[in-house]
Order: sequence, then structure tokens, then C-alpha cells
Amino acid sequence: MKKLIILSLLATVIILISCQEDLSPDQANGAVPNLPSNLLSYPKSLPNHISTSTGSWGGRGLDTLSLNPPDNKITDAGATLGRVLFYDKKLSYNNTVACGSCHLQSNAFADAKPLSRGFDGNLTTRNSPSIINAAFQTSYFWDGRIAKLEDMVLRPLNNHIEMGIEKIENLEAKLGATSYYPKLFADAFGTSEITKDKLSKALSQFIRSMQSFDAKIDHGRTALNASEQRGETLFNRNCASCHSGTNFRSSSEFTSSKNSSVNTNAFANIGLELSYKDKGLGEFIDKKEGYFRIPSLRNIEHTAPYMHDGRFKTLEEVIEHYNSGIKAHPFLSSQLLDWNTGTDPIRMNLTEVNKEDMLNFLKTLTDIHFINDERYSDPFVR
Ligand code: HEC
Ligand code: HEC
Repeated sequence: MKKLIILSLLATVIILISCQEDLSPDQANGAVPNLPSNLLSYPKSLPNHISTSTGSWGGRGLDTLSLNPPDNKITDAGATLGRVLFYDKKLSYNNTVACGSCHLQSNAFADAKPLSRGFDGNLTTRNSPSIINAAFQTSYFWDGRIAKLEDMVLRPLNNHIEMGIEKIENLEAKLGATSYYPKLFADAFGTSEITKDKLSKALSQFIRSMQSFDAKIDHGRTALNASEQRGETLFNRNCASCHSGTNFRSSSEFTSSKNSSVNTNAFANIGLELSYKDKGLGEFIDKKEGYFRIPSLRNIEHTAPYMHDGRFKTLEEVIEHYNSGIKAHPFLSSQLLDWNTGTDPIRMNLTEVNKEDMLNFLKTLTDIHFINDERYSDPFVR
């Protein structure tokens, strides 16, 4: 008898699961966001030290226009809606995964795992990158395959591994049936109607508002101690040819005009493999096997594990890779070739003190206020 009950219970569960559609009511996750009664204020322009700085890593290439494009200007109500959407598991097929499940604030909006689990328990094929200061990128993803943020933010919804929504219309209806979205959409866009266009605009506003420019390094070189300063010198010599500018990513990203094809200078092959299974840019551009986006190093202390596949657990491992572990590859980026032979991978021969100094410098890129900022936190947590 007991067995029979268990069996029939199981059958019901299976039927319930298989009947689920994108439309499925949200009993599974009936959470409502807990928002302050007054709107929080989101940044709409660059902080002074960034917009006015002319130094080597100053405001180069960052402009308020990319932060706040005329066709989708940041408003507090828009960014607030974006924040709720970003953390709402209802945006996934079975109410299990939100954007914030893979892009965690405590990890500067990267994932703490090498690969992330999507709505169905399957793993993503690449490491979830940090998405701060993303307003200033001219292409998105490790291989830069999408040019505009508004197009980018809808991809995870449809992605069969990440959030599994097949028809965006079903999601619109599902969100419309909640107690809170009609008002949030009305506050942000004037009407309560929920559309794909508004979804993408609100998510983009929230992401563009994620500015992180309050690290120790933002307070100038004189704020650094002796070890950090030595680390900066080593960094400028060995790393800044790629990780440069205000965001310690490729400044070439800014020279390509928006919506044009990928600017390959913003990508590099750092000799992780003799032969890459995931070819990066090489999937669609000749002779670019192993080319991946040069990522920003801001908040790098908190975005472990590292690289497109999350292969390195610590910054020490990353530094050791550059110091002694770069593998020969026919397309290895020229900055990482031995200066004498011009063909072998470089060996940096860093001493233990050098490595420690470099690590200490990398930690000056941490913006702890950002990681704890309420405006970017999960409103579903009480
Ligand atoms: C299951 C995990 C997962 C979920 C859920 C997820 N992402 Fe991501 N996200 C990733 C991975 C993995 C990548 C890198 C993919 C690649 O490069 O091929 C990525 C890349 C991005 C990027 C590009 C960053 C860059 O530097 O190019 C942005 C922006 C982004 N995601 C925003 C979002 C938004 C907005 C949502 C929710 C609508 C979301 N993500 C949901 C895993 C996830
Ligand atoms: C030739 C350009 C180039 C140089 C020089 C370079 N990097 Fe990188 N860096 C990259 C690229 C490209 C990636 C991503 C590679 C991948 O995932 O396949 C990366 C990734 C990283 C990451 C991991 C970022 C993340 O979010 O996972 C760290 C940390 C890093 N580099 C630090 C350094 C340091 C420290 C140096 C100097 C010792 C350095 N890089 C020199 C291009 C470069």
C-alpha cells in the first residue's frame, strides 16, 4: 500500500514537471522583492576622478554617452526594475535560476565556480565573467560575439543551458501575473504593459549603472604602499600591454566603432593550451584560435576562479602561469613571446618577492564598497 502511494505521488510529480511551461504559475518561487519605499539613486555619469583624469590609466575611452545612451537613459525606476529582474528566478523556465545566480555580487558579479549551473542542472560551457563597468564594452562574451548590451541581456533567457525560456511572450505573461511587475514597469516606462523591449532596456540600465571606481588604485599612486608600488611597476612592464586603461582591460575595445565587427586587438591568446578545444574567436575568425577577451582586472581578488574556463583557483596560480607556464602556440599573442627569440613563450623569471608585490598590486583594484552596495544587492533576500 505504502509503495503504491509513493508510486502515485511520484507519478503526479512527474506529470506536474512535464506539464510545466514557460507560463507555469510561480508557486515554486512565490518570493516578492523587498524594496525601500524611496527609490535608490543610481549613477548616471562618471565620477570626477575618472572623467577628468588624463593620467596613463585615466578616463581614456570612457564616456558618459556609452554609460547613458540617448535611446536608453538610466533612470532610478528603470535601474530598480532591472535590479528586480536581475535577481528574479521567475525569469527562468522553472523558477530556479536568476541572472544573479551566476553573476554574484559577493564575487564582483562573476561566479565562484569554474562553470555555472543553469535551470536544468546543466553546466555552462564557459566561466561566468564579472559584469561590472560593462557599459564601456563594445562587445560582449568571452568571444565578443554580441555588440550591443540591449541584445546581449536577452540571450541568457533563451539560452538552453542558462534559463531555458522558449517563448519570450510566455515570460511577459508570467511576469504580468505577479503582484509587483505591472507597477514596476509602469514606474519605469509609464505603462504597465510588459514587453521584451522594456525587459531588455531595464536590465541594460541596471547593468550600465554597475560602476566600480572606488578601489584603492582610484585614490592615486600615492595611496599605494611600497610593495604595491613595486607591483605596479612590474605590472606596467609585464601586463599593461593588454590590461590597460581605466578598467585594466584592453583599451582597443574603445577604438572600434560600435556595432562594427569584433576588434580583434581586444582579444589575446595567452598560451593556456598547445591546442584549444574551445577556440574562442577562432570559432569564427581565421588564425584566432585561443583568442579570448582581455578581461577587466578590477575586483579581480573577488572573481576567482579565473580564465574563460575557470581553470585557475587563485591569483597566485594566474601569476605563475604568466611567469613560467605559458605554452607555445602558433597564435600566441606577441606580447607574450620571448623578446630575444621572438618565437618562444616568455619566461618572466619573477622572484618570490616580485610575485608577492604583483599580487598586492592586483588587490588594490578591489572596490569593497561596490561589492556591498545595497543598490546592486538581491532584493529577494530579507
Ligand atoms: C547559468 C548561468 C548564467 C545565467 C543564469 C546568466 N548568465 Fe550571464 N553569463 C554566463 C556565462 C557563462 C557568460 C559567458 C558566456 C560566453 O562568453 O560564452 C555570461 C556572460 C554575460 C555577460 C557578458 C559579460 C562580458 O564581459 O562580455 C553579461 C552582460 C551577462 N552575462 C549578463 C547576464 C544577464 C543580464 C542575465 C540574466 C538575464 C544572465 N547574464 C544570466 C552565465 C550566466
Ligand atoms: C597578451 C595579452 C595579455 C597579457 C600581456 C596579460 N594578460 Fe592577463 N589576460 C589576457 C586574456 C586574453 C585573458 C583571458 C584568457 C582566457 O580566459 O583564455 C587574461 C586573463 C587574466 C586574468 C583572469 C581574469 C578573469 O576574469 O578570469 C588575470 C588575473 C590576468 N589575466 C592577469 C594578468 C597579469 C597579472 C599579467 C601580467 C603578468 C597579464 N594578465 C598579462 C591577456 C593578457
